[in-house]
Amino acid sequence: MNLFGQGRHLLSVLQFDRPTLAGLFQLADAVSPIARREAVCTVLDGAMLGSLFFEPSTRTRLSFESAFLRLGGEVTTTTGFTFSSMAKGESIADTARVVSGYSDVLVVRHPDTGSVAEFAAASTVPVVNAGDGAGEHPSQALLDVYTMEKELAARGGGVDGCRIAILGDLRFGRTAHSLVKLLSLYDSLSFSFFAPPGLELPKSVADYATGRGHSVHFHDTVVEAVQGVDVVYATRVQRERMPEDLAQANAAGDLLNKAILAQADNLDVVIMHPLPRDSRCDSFDLSTDVDDLPGLSIFKQTDNGLIVRMAIFLTALGVSTEAVRLTTKQRPWRATLRD
Ligand code: NCD
Repeated sequence: MNLFGQGRHLLSVLQFDRPTLAGLFQLADAVSPIARREAVCTVLDGAMLGSLFFEPSTRTRLSFESAFLRLGGEVTTTTGFTFSSMAKGESIADTARVVSGYSDVLVVRHPDTGSVAEFAAASTVPVVNAGDGAGEHPSQALLDVYTMEKELAARGGGVDGCRIAILGDLRFGRTAHSLVKLLSLYDSLSFSFFAPPGLELPKSVADYATGRGHSVHFHDTVVEAVQGVDVVYATRVQRERMPEDLAQANAAGDLLNKAILAQADNLDVVIMHPLPRDSRCDSFDLSTDVDDLPGLSIFKQTDNGLIVRMAIFLTALGVSTEAVRLTTKQRPWRATLRD
């Protein structure tokens, strides 16, 4: 079974169905001891990742690169337009053709919607979309849904039938777009959306969910949106993608904090965010005052990002779980302070 549907690129969450999603999550579970450094794996010995980030990134780039290194591969990387030949006017197609000659798989982030698919069309090796403008961010949605499955299972539930609030910049936030589409694979979800004026969810994304039988509710306040939900997913205002006046209009107070959750009588909810969380004053983002709540899952998401991205590479490169098993050994050295 090809977990990416047809082809070997990962460009959109729309490539998945329930069986392939479950298959990818099983693969993620299988490599989790390697991510936790309980075992060392060399299955990607000799393979090269080309990591191309033409937009800022901390966790996405480092977790993709760490995932590849933990499977025994090697990494070359370029960050920003300034340090690549795109600054000299090189096209996406030429860049893709050149760098695919140096790598076995490419991870690409670019500020323009559709640009990573254009990159893939000219590449001779698999391409993974690490975010194309306000378009999609499939690996983030995969790790988000994986985390939701784990957190809801730990509470004796599951994703099917659950109620999810998605808050913040739903217009420019690609993580929200990919998440709604990927979650739509599940059954009977109830989505509660809150976005400030000018940052509303595109109609096409909401229609995608309703078209698959889910109920969709739009709220005027965050308190209303988070009342009675099982999961709340907060997002950052994507200031870099909008005109200054719209950014200014959304620069006051918190999007979500403990007082709002208390008012909604939902202090135990699973709290998620793709990160980065904008910690500047009046950033209109998730407050750090929720960090001691029992449902805080934002760092579980970042940890899960590593194993989900390992599973993505194994799929892109056609590696079986048997090959992983045969190339995995116990590590002879001490890793964390717990050892
Ligand atoms: C997100 C992104 O780049 O879209 N970050 C990430 O990859 N975790 C979210 C954001 O920048 O707000």
